[in-house]
Amino acid sequence: MGKRLVSLVVNGRLREEAVGDATLLLDFLREQLGLTGTKRGCDGGECGACTVLVDDAPRLACLTLVARCEGARVETIESQSAGGRMSALQAAFHEKLGTQCGFCTPGMIMAAEALLRGDPAPDEVAIREALGGNLCRCTGYVKIIEAVQAAAGVGTPGDAPRRADATQATR
Ligand code: FES
Ligand code: FES
Repeated sequence: MGKRLVSLVVNGRLREEAVGDATLLLDFLREQLGLTGTKRGCDGGECGACTVLVDDAPRLACLTLVARCEGARVETIESQSAGGRMSALQAAFHEKLGTQCGFCTPGMIMAAEALLRGDPAPDEVAIREALGGNLCRCTGYVKIIEAVQAAAGVGTPGDAPRRADATQATR
């Protein structure tokens, strides 16, 4: 298998790494960079556990070649917290009990992050659609939907709107 030098920005940090032509983004993140927050579920594009952002769009890391990410901006769940503080989405998943075993949570949050960047106040249909490729075997999805609504400030009364500073903290 051939190798090449790939240059990309991962969680705000420029990386120049030698990777195999067939190296998957999921393996690169987890094994080469040690960013194990991104989960390997089905390893075949079926579960969404490996969802990361590539240039702001949700992408399945288990189906993405690193070699195709030359010059791209990649964000993983590790980018969500800044200075030990959870992002608005992370806090909402915690407070609304959108996390149980937690295995699907990184992918859910990154898919939701992509949604909220494009649509800061999504309705329930939009949230369900955005998370449609992310499977959870624990929650039944209601708590996850409520968590995204809470982070966006479109849930039940008392939910704080997603603050600009919290949004910035994710980038
Ligand atoms: S591990 Fe990538 S979609 Fe399941
Ligand atoms: S919280 Fe367990 S798979 Fe979603």
